[in-house]
Amino acid sequence: MLRIAVLVSGGGTNLQAIIDGVANGKITNTEIAVVISNNKKAYALERAAKAGIAAQCVSPKDFPDRAAFNRALLAAIDSCRADLIVLAGCLVVLPPELIAAYRNRIINIHPSLIPSFCGTGYYGLHVHEKVLERGVKVTGATVHFVDEGTDTGPIIAQKPVEVRDGDTPEILQRRVMEEAEWNLLPKAIDDIANDRIFIDGNQVKRREL
Ligand code: GRF
Repeated sequence: MLRIAVLVSGGGTNLQAIIDGVANGKITNTEIAVVISNNKKAYALERAAKAGIAAQCVSPKDFPDRAAFNRALLAAIDSCRADLIVLAGCLVVLPPELIAAYRNRIINIHPSLIPSFCGTGYYGLHVHEKVLERGVKVTGATVHFVDEGTDTGPIIAQKPVEVRDGDTPEILQRRVMEEAEWNLLPKAIDDIANDRIFIDGNQVKRREL
């Protein structure tokens, strides 16, 4: 059984897709050990509570400095003995010691087709604003392993989504979630839980069946 820790910051629709996936069998061999938010008000915490999942807030505001927050975050994750950390709309810049301790065991969902519209400053609605500003006709979402860079780790899966005339950042964000994110992230967790993929250099490959 893969034990996952899901890190969130906001609404938690990706968390909900994971909760539903575990409940309906789209994700197998997986247990959500804990949900951790850096934001006390995140609706994701309520989603976890409603599903009977352990949830806690580890906020930088409750610590004197970043180093103390980083230690608390690492301790919270370590204490739930997670095999995999899933960043599902998590806006915290992860401490390097966490990335090192969980090398190749952290995944993130990003709302664009990496390497487009990613890196520093590309988070949340900003990604979709930039997509619309640039006028690309196709965007999408990417699930990737997390390394020390911003959105630079090995890519697990991607899904394209059409950009339409008249889109606002909010409309486009919703379409990317519905058509891509809510499927990609549960599927990636299921692939990891069932040992279907592995990392080879900067590539993620599928095991031959
Ligand atoms: C999603 O668009 C995700 O790709 C990005 O942040 C957003 C989080 O949404 N990293 P939610 O909290 O899962 O609803």
